[in-house]
Amino acid sequence: MAKSDYTTLYEQSLANPETFWGEQAKSLKWTTEPATILSTDEHGFYRWFAGGEMNTCYLALDRHIEEGRGEQLALIYDSPVTQTIIRYTYNQLLDEVSRCAGMLQQLGVEKGDRVILYMPMIPQAAVAMLACARIGAVHSVVFGGFAAHELALRIDDARPKVLLTASAGIEIDKIIPYGPLVQSALQEAEHQMDHVVMWQRDVQTYDEPTFKNWAELLDDAPAVGCTTVAATDPLYILYTSGTTGKPKGIVRDNGGHAVALRFSMQTIYDVQPGDVYWAASDVGWVVGHSYIVYAPLLTGCTTILYEGKPIRTPDAGAFWRVVEQHRVKVLFTAPTGFRAIKKEDPDGELFKKYDVSSLKYLFLAGERCDIATLQWAEQLLNIPVIDHWWQTESGWPMLANPAGLGLMPVVPGSAGKPVPGFDVQVLHGDTHTPCAPNEEGAVVVKLPLPPGCLPTLWENPERFHAGYLEAFPGYYFTGDGGYKNDDGYVFITGRIDDVINVAGHRLSTAEMEEIVAAHPGVAECAVIGVEDQLKGQVPVGFVVLKGGINMTDSELSRELEKMIREKIGPIACFKQAMTVQRLPKTRSGKILRRIMRCIADDKPYQAPSTIEDMAVLGEIKDVWNSRT
Ligand code: COA
Ligand code: AMP
Repeated sequence: MAKSDYTTLYEQSLANPETFWGEQAKSLKWTTEPATILSTDEHGFYRWFAGGEMNTCYLALDRHIEEGRGEQLALIYDSPVTQTIIRYTYNQLLDEVSRCAGMLQQLGVEKGDRVILYMPMIPQAAVAMLACARIGAVHSVVFGGFAAHELALRIDDARPKVLLTASAGIEIDKIIPYGPLVQSALQEAEHQMDHVVMWQRDVQTYDEPTFKNWAELLDDAPAVGCTTVAATDPLYILYTSGTTGKPKGIVRDNGGHAVALRFSMQTIYDVQPGDVYWAASDVGWVVGHSYIVYAPLLTGCTTILYEGKPIRTPDAGAFWRVVEQHRVKVLFTAPTGFRAIKKEDPDGELFKKYDVSSLKYLFLAGERCDIATLQWAEQLLNIPVIDHWWQTESGWPMLANPAGLGLMPVVPGSAGKPVPGFDVQVLHGDTHTPCAPNEEGAVVVKLPLPPGCLPTLWENPERFHAGYLEAFPGYYFTGDGGYKNDDGYVFITGRIDDVINVAGHRLSTAEMEEIVAAHPGVAECAVIGVEDQLKGQVPVGFVVLKGGINMTDSELSRELEKMIREKIGPIACFKQAMTVQRLPKTRSGKILRRIMRCIADDKPYQAPSTIEDMAVLGEIKDVWNSRT
């Protein structure tokens, strides 16, 4: 039997990565062709396309105009919360971007300087990202749902010259003023930046004389051309939650990123230039970076920047309205979004009101996709619904069912097979030997990772090595657990570290524990992620109070919720804390969070022989079962 396109391509990609990716790199217009395809840097980390020179913004905009796509739509801003739709052709987007780049240059931003963007989902966010890329500056977008403290942490780590922000974001039923958050972050951060530039929105302006007015600066800004950068130069830093309170600065380079994303659009998403592609996410997340901004534009598609939610903006038909209105071919979102739609419109009554015949695929990622949601979406849409798996670190999917290579059967519960370039394996945590089919272990990727993945952490090669490369020498450790079935489909069962996913938002329970532990009444605590029907997971705190402290669980929950909202942000959705007499631990003092999670999720578990006192597990179960 002939091998499928997938098998052939996959085997080629692993047998000779240099030939494979060297071939893919030809899809780019390089200023200087790379001298080597794969090499190692001074830390021994793999680097792609060293010696190559290019500009990501040129490839995303100018190139398409040169090739005749100037009048094609590049970006559609669709904002149900402001009742606005703005369409930008490639010519118009280039004009916006090159003037924004000129504005940044006038503010003194040079190649290699960092620029932080703390922005809602408005076109200026994408424009500013591309403007940074145009002049070789390194952007770092901070999700608008993060609190001032999180912004301050990122300011101190990235040390930006300029911070770009807007006066307000708009959530389902409220306006979020960004000004006070920015000011509080500036007060907390040690690093002082040169300028804060604010885009004033009609819905709510913010008056702070030290902030520069974005629109006024643009009036005087020249349109500037592209600065050539090295393929290995950083394009952006995106901070993500790790297993400590300090977020990790994932670095994305220019060359590998452009090659990988271009490849992914055709191979995984079956998308061609001119197609309309919609990732219903936020530019503050990796999905937004890769599939709202860079990949669709690098491919010459029309991308949609949606300032709304799947529900209540105005209703659960919102997605179908957008698909119909803009003739979307591919929709990519998180399962949570679909669970929300399913809850509000279980029989698809709103869905029936729209013509969604343009929609060919639905891709889901960001969290585990439960089978009920997958099947509901399949029945509703009657198109392939494809779960795929990736991380901020990888920048593009590592597991998928590559639609561009001819779909394989969809196996519910699995995020698909390894994408060409990714040698995904499941290993035993202790011996590092391969797990048998259907046996659960640690999900790792054999090095080298393909182009597009993180080459290192921002100014922290030691943490990169310790966090990802040390646990399984020769492999990148993803932090996820899972198994492969007999046919090579991989099932991701969840994080095996302290990271949780709340409504597709990646958060660290270790960071929450630091905040909970800072409460004056708390002696000790454990925060775990428990299953939630809508959001996938939500955090719950188990707290041992200090002697003499008397608080009800609801008082404690209220106070801790406030502290976590203030430090991390509302997206943490921390609402429940419960008092326990003691926490389950090993004799060496390690808290058995995984077992607590199993108890809360009503799953079987095996207590380790090193447990200090088995009776504590029963106590935890009783407290959990008696929760209100
Ligand atoms: N800026 C400021 N606040 C934000 C925010 C942002 N960008 N995003 C969310 N928040 C706030 C919300 O207003 C809410 O605040 P509240 O507790 O004061 O009401 C809180 O954070 C929790 O928000 P969310 O988790 O979005 O819950 P929700 O109940 O408002 O909406 C869903 C539920 C399912 C509609 C929503 O979670 C959703 O659209 N999920 C899809 C997620 C997604 O696309 N993830 C991207 C990864 S691919
Ligand atoms: P983020 O870095 O925010 O994209 O989060 C990455 C994490 O989300 C992964 O390590 C997984 O734990 C989880 N994740 C993403 N996609 C999937 C998926 N399709 N199935 C299961 N988990 C997923």
